[in-house]
Amino acid sequence: GRIVASSVEQTYIMIKPDGVQRGLVGEIISRFEKKGFLLKGLKLFQCPKDLAQEHYKDLKDKPFFPKLIDYITSGPVVCMAWEGDGVVASARKLIGATNPLQAEPGTIRGDLAIQTGRNVVHGSDSPDNGKREIGKFCNSPVRCLSALQPILLQHN
Ligand code: TYD
Repeated sequence: GRIVASSVEQTYIMIKPDGVQRGLVGEIISRFEKKGFLLKGLKLFQCPKDLAQEHYKDLKDKPFFPKLIDYITSGPVVCMAWEGDGVVASARKLIGATNPLQAEPGTIRGDLAIQTGRNVVHGSDSPDNGKREIGKFCNSPVRCLSALQPILLQHN
């Protein structure tokens, strides 16, 4: 059902298309579970272009913006609401630096990624954005029920 407003801090965590395609969903969820945060909502979702542009609106003048929108809309993402004291900052620590080559080993990006443009996961940067992004992604209607396109399942 709908994720209702809570007084406990929540953050929006999104496994990006490369994370889903590479089969890292379980691994990434595991890290937040093991840390002790509470999973409050989860769905598989194909992000439409308008929502992607809204989500990354602060970056709209950056040269990489069109590629970022193409990437984030290129396949299903996993949308999640995670809850707990200090979850926003703690999740950012667990995720690691934006550029995976600068992310510390032990972080999700530090262990699992090598490119800024393919950095497997998103985490909100403030409690206010956490609430806002959960509202946009987790409470929006499901637009994609079919999960992976066959080509993504092909192992060559
Ligand atoms: P940003 O909000 O700066 O980083 P973070 O995801 O760590 O909060 O940027 C959003 C996303 O934009 C980032 O995860 C990957 C992409 N991006 C690029 O593709 N190239 C870049 O040079 C930067 C800074 C970000």
